[in-house]
Amino acid sequence: VAVAALLTGTGLTVAPGAAPAVPHGHGPPAARIADEPTRRFTLTAGTATVDAGGRNVAAWAFNGQVPGPELTATVGDVLEVTLRNRDIERGVTVHWHGYDVPNDQDGVPGVTQAAVRPGQEFVYRFRADQVGTYWYHTHSASDVGVRMGLYGVLVVRPGPATGLDVTVPVHTLAGRQLPAPRVERVEPGVPVRLRLINTDSTTHRYAVAGTPFRVAAIDGVDLRGPTPLVDTAVLIPAGGRYDMVFDAPATPVALFVDGRAVYSTGPVPTATGAWPVLDPLDYGATAPVPWSRTDKTFTLVLDRGLDLRRLLPRYAHTVNGAADPDIPQQVVRLGDVVRFTIVNRSQVVHPWHLHGHHVLVLTRDGKPAAGSPLWLDSFDVRPGEVWEVAFRADNPGMWANHCHNLAHADAGMTLHLMYS
Ligand code: C2O
Ligand code: CU
Repeated sequence: VAVAALLTGTGLTVAPGAAPAVPHGHGPPAARIADEPTRRFTLTAGTATVDAGGRNVAAWAFNGQVPGPELTATVGDVLEVTLRNRDIERGVTVHWHGYDVPNDQDGVPGVTQAAVRPGQEFVYRFRADQVGTYWYHTHSASDVGVRMGLYGVLVVRPGPATGLDVTVPVHTLAGRQLPAPRVERVEPGVPVRLRLINTDSTTHRYAVAGTPFRVAAIDGVDLRGPTPLVDTAVLIPAGGRYDMVFDAPATPVALFVDGRAVYSTGPVPTATGAWPVLDPLDYGATAPVPWSRTDKTFTLVLDRGLDLRRLLPRYAHTVNGAADPDIPQQVVRLGDVVRFTIVNRSQVVHPWHLHGHHVLVLTRDGKPAAGSPLWLDSFDVRPGEVWEVAFRADNPGMWANHCHNLAHADAGMTLHLMYS
């Protein structure tokens, strides 16, 4: 059942610019959190000309900048973000990637709200109860919208930042990689936290030259210790985040993304680029799977093929042989422990992303996750791979579940998780 059909099928109508009623009984956003906001931001989306690595390019920007403003909060804050659309004809929303907000704040047009049209606004409000590194982006015409620049960083800290705590959102704009390389001096011994965020639609390879590091968190969730020091590269999927930590050595350190130094603490060390790649399934201390039962199982087979359910058959990225909006919804009940298996039968990587929940990795190609429990919201399912993940259905609503190569998502690879 398509989402639009489901909304109309239950007799609900969507007024332009208003939050549509969604079939899970939440009130309108303002009523959801009665507390006064403690952090207020305004994001104004508009066409803009921005500097991308020394060249002026046409972009779509929040507040005239790419990335948009960095939104920071401390745990316990109540965030209020007013989204305004100045002139983005395709419409705009804000989705809080990896942040498990109540469903009516999730920013998916046609599912949790209507797209914000030029001249309109929408107010998001949610509690900063989830510490970690996240990002936000438009979910309206998301492929072109994010590619053109409608994204930014969201960080929730447990308290005042200690040491050097920086975010590095990597994004490709008009063929140029952002951010421009930057140099920041740091005293030896100072604790450094690099919050790496991949806002592109393809995987990037990140490595630190000049010091070993620990991976402190993945997708906003702290890893279970002890996390060993490693001298490796990490592959971050589209949408994914890694927090790397180390104490600044006396000599300079540099962060490389796909072989290019984007951040350093002095003259860039000569790097060989030959780091091995860390397998996060083997990293950190193992803990038992928190559930012994499974209430629901799903299998998603990812492929590419003709979508024959259309009047004009088109080549699409498919799930179980169908393309959005014809992929059946996954229906769960509140409290269910849900297990799903993702099989990639295609020739390309599909970075999978479930909204509103983090999933626990159980196995990849039959190999159990041996390291710290990996609670991910974005993970690369490579050609031929089979991933088995699980989550607890604890956040009612209707949630997008899609490939985060946003061109694939737009070309069929999107389905929805729904609570009955
Ligand atoms: Cu980062 Cu549905 O998206
Ligand atoms: Cu894909």
